[in-house]
Amino acid sequence: MRKPIIIGNWKMNKSIHDSIIFIDELGKDSFEIEVGIAPQMITLPIVNEVKGNVLVGAQNANDHLEGAYTGEVSIALLQEINSDFCIVGHSERRQYYNETNKSVNDKTKLLLDAKIMPVVCVGESLEEYEAGKTNEVIKEQINNSLADVSIADCVVAYEPVWAIGTGKTATTQTAQEVCKFIREELAKMYSQEEADKVRIQYGGSVKPSNIGELMACPDIDGALVGGASLEIASFKELINY
Ligand code: PGA
Repeated sequence: MRKPIIIGNWKMNKSIHDSIIFIDELGKDSFEIEVGIAPQMITLPIVNEVKGNVLVGAQNANDHLEGAYTGEVSIALLQEINSDFCIVGHSERRQYYNETNKSVNDKTKLLLDAKIMPVVCVGESLEEYEAGKTNEVIKEQINNSLADVSIADCVVAYEPVWAIGTGKTATTQTAQEVCKFIREELAKMYSQEEADKVRIQYGGSVKPSNIGELMACPDIDGALVGGASLEIASFKELINY
């Protein structure tokens, strides 16, 4: 049985004060699923103190262990502050910061070595979607971003780029089909048994009104949520789908 996991990705939003208030309140609840928040990096050691039942993780980390990489944050530091997870390869990182499948793969391996759960994002652009290339793009991302890793310890997030922050959600049927395709690819790379252990999230305009039907799909085990995770009321509604 795969335990569902819903993670709020706050991106570059919220002050330190507001992050503490939110996580402190949320962390006092108890959940049947895993619930996580990825706040801005600088708040991590502070919100960790009040996280209670919430998993707290980073939105990115560097793909080198240490060294001359000005402005970057190492996985060693995430380990030192007991970060529960780290998002890797989010489409905004792939798009604006030239994140490649190779760097995503390197980060995933380092995170697993550090015993931090990687949340590895894949997803096609609008252009690729309209050209009917979704499976081709996803296959390439999965094959290269998730090669030679302890796959059962990873979470994979399928986030069609055209659905992020746009209000457009992939239909439940499309989301399920692509998540199923991802599991089939993982089964080819590893084994069916290993692939069946991997939790696959859907992300892209997830909100309280659509979470229920997404979570009812057999290959969708959770969600990566941007906008709807910023308000505590809507996020609570969402995790209690
Ligand atoms: P959204 O973002 O829910 O605002 O579409 C999702 C994400 O980027 O993870």
